[in-house]
Amino acid sequence: MADSCTSAGGIDLHLDLPPGRGRRSALEVALRQAIRDGRLAPGEWLPSSRALAVQLGVARGTVVEVYAQLAAEGYLRTRPGAATEVAHGPHAPSRVTAEPVTARVVADFRLGRPDLSMFPRAEWLRALPRALQTTAHSELGPADPRGSPRLRAVLANYLGRVRGVLTTSEHIVICSGFTQGLRLVCDALAAGTARSIALENPCLPDHRAIAEASGLAVVPLDVDGSGARPEGFTRSAAAVLAPAHQAPLGATLSAERRAEFARIAAARGVYLVEDDYDGEFRYDRHPVGALQGLAPEHVIYAGSASKSLAPGLRLGWLALPSGLIDAVIEAKRRADRGTDVLAQLAFAELIESGALDRHIRRMRRRYGNRRDALIATLARYAPAVSIHGIAAGLHAVVSLPEHISEADVLTAAQQRKVALTGLTPFWHGTGHHTEGIVIGYGTPLEHEYASALEHLGQLMGAVTKSSTESH
Ligand SMILES: Cc1ncc(COP(=O)(O)O)c(C=O)c1O
Repeated sequence: MADSCTSAGGIDLHLDLPPGRGRRSALEVALRQAIRDGRLAPGEWLPSSRALAVQLGVARGTVVEVYAQLAAEGYLRTRPGAATEVAHGPHAPSRVTAEPVTARVVADFRLGRPDLSMFPRAEWLRALPRALQTTAHSELGPADPRGSPRLRAVLANYLGRVRGVLTTSEHIVICSGFTQGLRLVCDALAAGTARSIALENPCLPDHRAIAEASGLAVVPLDVDGSGARPEGFTRSAAAVLAPAHQAPLGATLSAERRAEFARIAAARGVYLVEDDYDGEFRYDRHPVGALQGLAPEHVIYAGSASKSLAPGLRLGWLALPSGLIDAVIEAKRRADRGTDVLAQLAFAELIESGALDRHIRRMRRRYGNRRDALIATLARYAPAVSIHGIAAGLHAVVSLPEHISEADVLTAAQQRKVALTGLTPFWHGTGHHTEGIVIGYGTPLEHEYASALEHLGQLMGAVTKSSTESH
């Protein structure tokens, strides 16, 4: 028997009441199941007991009892005078279906993800209707390829406040994540006189592929403990840097190098692309401001919501020097005419209400604790490895003792169902390179982290111990 109903608050709630039980028990089971499989998300409001009772044709007291029972079990949150809502917590899984790989692993430390169970669903749920209420009809019309004027104005302020970016709404283009932003910039550069671009070595393989797809030759920029070295930049028409947290090695670009890159760019009249993908998350001292602030007419600042909120939003932004704006707008117009306007408006709302700041502060504390726990676990299980790049971001790099190869660790990881990434694919070319393991410690869901870490510790302990014994 399936019952469908619409809440007083307007949400559609479809419940399959299992047959062969009393109505109270059937409702309890159906609601618990809807929360478990994520059809009812944390923060979502349930119909009032009166509305649900009318729709299901049961006594209101039955619904009140069921709500109380599920609240006692931690599935629901009830407050006097407020609507009953789905509680946050381990009972409430992601509504997003797990990817096949996560179903097969016991610990997921892949690179490049925040904890998706911490996405601020309740705040997003509040932001969306507010955004809709305040949106002029015209804003729903054919999209301005630069993005919503409101989000661009909000972002210009926000980036100045939190990252020291010097820009205006007229210089901002909203794009589909950093990935599209990089493509747009490479296309714009290639449409001008640029024929090459320097990329850090190592860097994300996708970024190399994007530059090449735009027709630019990729020049490698060496990286050391102070970040990228400027030599390769003097031989290329532009360079892409991740100054706050080199990806994947994790170094912070030193003040001297920042000044040197900015000086070279200004002297040669060329551009730097600043990939600020996780600059919000810095643990040991205040966030390092954006390089863009040193040379706004020569640095393209690129940010993304992929680490601060969720990669699935596909929200990114470019703060552009005046000389590149028109070419990038044209590239964006040709690519897709503009980014989803409602997501942009909800994001603007999230920033303006202060909810984004609060979320980032909360997550910075959590990821900082995760990082500390990772350091402690490796020190306990595998003292022979060393860990780097941990001042910021959501990933760390582990260097291996000489007699242990990256392949040893990855093979053992596969056997033990621990998802890890090796450093090798990040290097340009196939020549000699340093091996290592990249650990995305933001990826496990909050309630799985302790157990994932234990699996990782045992894995690293077993690999380093067995290799030491055979030497
Ligand atoms: C180095 C680097 N840059 C940028 C990004 C963000 O990419 P996007 O905004 O396209 O999701 C990531 C995300 O994982 C990254 O690792």
